[in-house]
Amino acid sequence: KGWITENLYMYQGFWHQSSRRISVETVMALQDTFEAHPTDIYLATLPKSGTTWLKALMFALVNKNRYKHNRLSTHPLLVSNPHDCLPFIETEIYRNTPTYIDPHSPRLFATHIPYTSLPRSIINSGCRVVYLCRNPKDVLVSMFHFANKLREKSCDVMTFEETFELFSRGVMPTGPYWDHVKEYHKVSVDHPDNVLFLTYEDMKKDTTNNVKRLAEFLGYPFTKKEEAEGAVQGIVELCSFQSLSEVNKHGNLREDIRNHAFFREGKVGDWTNHLTDEMSCVLDEITKEKFYGLDISWDLSC
Ligand code: A3P
Repeated sequence: KGWITENLYMYQGFWHQSSRRISVETVMALQDTFEAHPTDIYLATLPKSGTTWLKALMFALVNKNRYKHNRLSTHPLLVSNPHDCLPFIETEIYRNTPTYIDPHSPRLFATHIPYTSLPRSIINSGCRVVYLCRNPKDVLVSMFHFANKLREKSCDVMTFEETFELFSRGVMPTGPYWDHVKEYHKVSVDHPDNVLFLTYEDMKKDTTNNVKRLAEFLGYPFTKKEEAEGAVQGIVELCSFQSLSEVNKHGNLREDIRNHAFFREGKVGDWTNHLTDEMSCVLDEITKEKFYGLDISWDLSC
């Protein structure tokens, strides 16, 4: 029924789509052929975890000096979709789609590929990876809405119950959710200088301090002078849900996807409007079991 279950293949323990844009063969080919540079920076996420937001923030931070003196209206994030500013290696880069790629280092890329199947050069080059994770219940809700927006006209609507069933069995593009998160969490603990583990919820709760932390990790810390001049707040606002969703109100990212599809509620906890108590408990139980002993938690109601 469209985006979630579109020709899914299991590869190295994870589900991969085979669509017009991406296939499991792409992931396999990239493993051996993609050449990472040690100065590269990657954003890794599961779909619907806040990828678009983090793409905007990372692009804005790495380019903060370049656009400092420009009039604000010339900033790429005020005229284009964050997905155009920071490409996915498994789609735009693999297909050589023209993007904003800056010939100067660092190169900024994103990926949904699970850690296990990342191109070996990314793992071996010692480059930096930012991982953004989100409460599974909000990922599920966001995915449900997104999948139905992307649905081919000939496909039936996927009900929330059906989406829940699939999600709780681990079925989503690049899922299972829990395994994807666990792998990146482990490398962030083992290699904290290389992998920064962030949560959507922390980013929402204290955006300013987490943006400063992100800037430091990326190697673009704010100076005291920049802070005093309001540079942190400027970037927080430039990348806010309000600003990005306004810029992306019209237009299409690709022929089958509207810019606005990446902006829905932008809130923490919308799952309370969708999940029954029983569904919530099922996901809490899985999360408790899968994340046992890990320092990742949300308010679990069961
Ligand atoms: P909701 O569907 O819960 O609203 P992704 O970018 O990985 O596809 O994730 C999309 C989710 O991130 C959507 O969540 C979207 O609204 C939210 N989002 C997009 N831009 C955001 C921003 N600037 N701040 C906070 N959330 C944002």
